Amino acid sequence: MPDFDASTTDRVLSPRLNSQAREDFAQAVRIGLSKRQRELPSMYLYDDLGTALFEAITLLPEYGLTRADERLLRRYARAILEHLPPGVMVAELGSGGGRKTRWLLDALAHREPVVYFPIDISAAALAKCRQELSGLGAVSLVGLETSYLEGLCDVTARRRPGQTLLVLFLGSTVGNFDRPAAEEFLREIRRCLSPGDALLLGTDLEKTVAEMVLAYDDPVGVTAAFNLNLLARINRELEGNFVLGQFRHEVRYHERERRIEMHLRSERTQTVSIRAADLTCTLHAGETMWTEACHKFHLGEIPAMAQRTGFVCQAQWVDGEWAFAENLWVADPAAATMP
Ligand SMILES: C[S@@+](CC[C@H](N)C(=O)[O-])C[C@H]1O[C@@H](n2cnc3c(N)ncnc32)[C@H](O)[C@@H]1O
Repeated sequence: MPDFDASTTDRVLSPRLNSQAREDFAQAVRIGLSKRQRELPSMYLYDDLGTALFEAITLLPEYGLTRADERLLRRYARAILEHLPPGVMVAELGSGGGRKTRWLLDALAHREPVVYFPIDISAAALAKCRQELSGLGAVSLVGLETSYLEGLCDVTARRRPGQTLLVLFLGSTVGNFDRPAAEEFLREIRRCLSPGDALLLGTDLEKTVAEMVLAYDDPVGVTAAFNLNLLARINRELEGNFVLGQFRHEVRYHERERRIEMHLRSERTQTVSIRAADLTCTLHAGETMWTEACHKFHLGEIPAMAQRTGFVCQAQWVDGEWAFAENLWVADPAAATMP
């Protein structure tokens, strides 16, 4: 990460897309497509077009998740902040466009000057975030275009004595990890924090299968375009030759794992090559590539997750219209030396 002067505000730090990033993408695709259930890594859904399509998804009537998240933040921003002492700096993992975060930052800015670090691998998301929050005078925004934990390490290195760090992980993005990986990731976050720091975790709760499937399979086809765009990105950035018209967006609910899965189904037997990944593979008719998982939660399992990962769940707020919870976790001093 390039260094910067933390007193300057309103910037996005964008390391140039380098050959290492392209090689990482190629390797992730190579590994994913070599599995028995073929996979494509979901973090690459968010190029500029993918980011714009995700923004559009958040406006779909069928996708109630973002609106629920935002209602909770708007309604309970002050209640959330009452749990935190003065002198808070805020970091957000996978901030996206930051629209919802405005409510929390605005409430905090009424209390004290705020430095906000949105962390996202998408430059387009960070640019949108900066635009969205530009009206918040008392908030200094320092965007970090990097991965979650790299960004968080960077932020913790910049904290001043006595400051409390509030980490936001909203939108149920934690559900994109499988459950053991989610807990390992939360433990990693905890290792970066000091006792008393906090994590505000947004979690989408289970609802009827029909509601959950429709949320990821809207009739307009925006989510399908978001999913298919990953193939277009591979074609463009890794010299692939996917014919997009020969793949179909498919959404499934996995009962045992309690997760929505997005797949791309091959409509016919076809051979695809991806030059930068040095890969040629034959996809059979009906075979799928799994692109994203969205695990769903029970409200009651979340405090136990906090405890297993070095936190104490201090409070939960649940939306009345769409089952979604905001969970405030505080870094448990007793877990300071967790392995
Ligand atoms: C599901 S969107 C959520 C956006 C926003 N937090 C919300 O709740 O609407 C996930 C965001 O995380 C970013 N992202 C995905 N994987 C990432 C990673 N490994 N490191 C940093 N950002 C990542 C994406 O670019 C995207 O903006």
